[in-house]
Amino acid sequence: MTRARICVIGAMDEEIAEFLSHAKMLNIVERRSFRFHEASLFGVPVVVVKCGVGKVFAALIAQTLIDTYQPAAVISTGVAGALSKSLRIGDVVVGRDSAHHDMDARALGFMRGHIPYTDFRFFTTDEKFSELALAARLDGGHKIVHGRILSGDQFVSGDREATHGHLTGELSGDAVDMETAAIAQVCAVNETPFVSIRTISDHADGSAHIDFNTFLPVIASNSFHIIRKMLVGISEQ
Ligand code: ADE
Repeated sequence: MTRARICVIGAMDEEIAEFLSHAKMLNIVERRSFRFHEASLFGVPVVVVKCGVGKVFAALIAQTLIDTYQPAAVISTGVAGALSKSLRIGDVVVGRDSAHHDMDARALGFMRGHIPYTDFRFFTTDEKFSELALAARLDGGHKIVHGRILSGDQFVSGDREATHGHLTGELSGDAVDMETAAIAQVCAVNETPFVSIRTISDHADGSAHIDFNTFLPVIASNSFHIIRKMLVGISEQ
């Protein structure tokens, strides 16, 4: 397969495990340390890849996927820390938009998150794919919300008021991760539709590291269930 319709990126094995176990695998391309799984998933041609943690790996893989497969859309899947107090572990945030919370050129007069000398601050998500995601339902009473995902090369934990008030204040974030905005930026530059689907694994607080390790293997599948609904919807169109 040289053209895949949808590319799915997760940072860690746990975040792509269910995609691989449900996929009808067609080919695995190994490039450098990455494995590009070309497959059919619920009737849709896909490429699933683990990019590794952080914005550089995420951007590298997003650009490689776009150059290689010219996808109809890129989906970022995985977990995130909750910033909004109404979110519980296992709830899912469908990115309405995203920004780099560690982009800070305020000393030059730019707002936090604004990439200097560009129009980029918040990257909006593809509406059609967001709608498909928001129409899904989850078991166990978990919510699916449309929200703002902030990304940075930092696992956010500790005392929210003391160290990261700007994430909910200035940047009005609902959830925080380490890849979404990087992939969104690459997709924006390449005019490729993008959506991020992130399940809450922790509250980005003093217990974040414990919750993350406890819940990651269990609840990453909530993102998968939503993307499954999206792919089924696409294959029926
Ligand atoms: N991904 C999941 N939880 C996170 C957190 N607290 N900070 C950054 N990325 C995360």
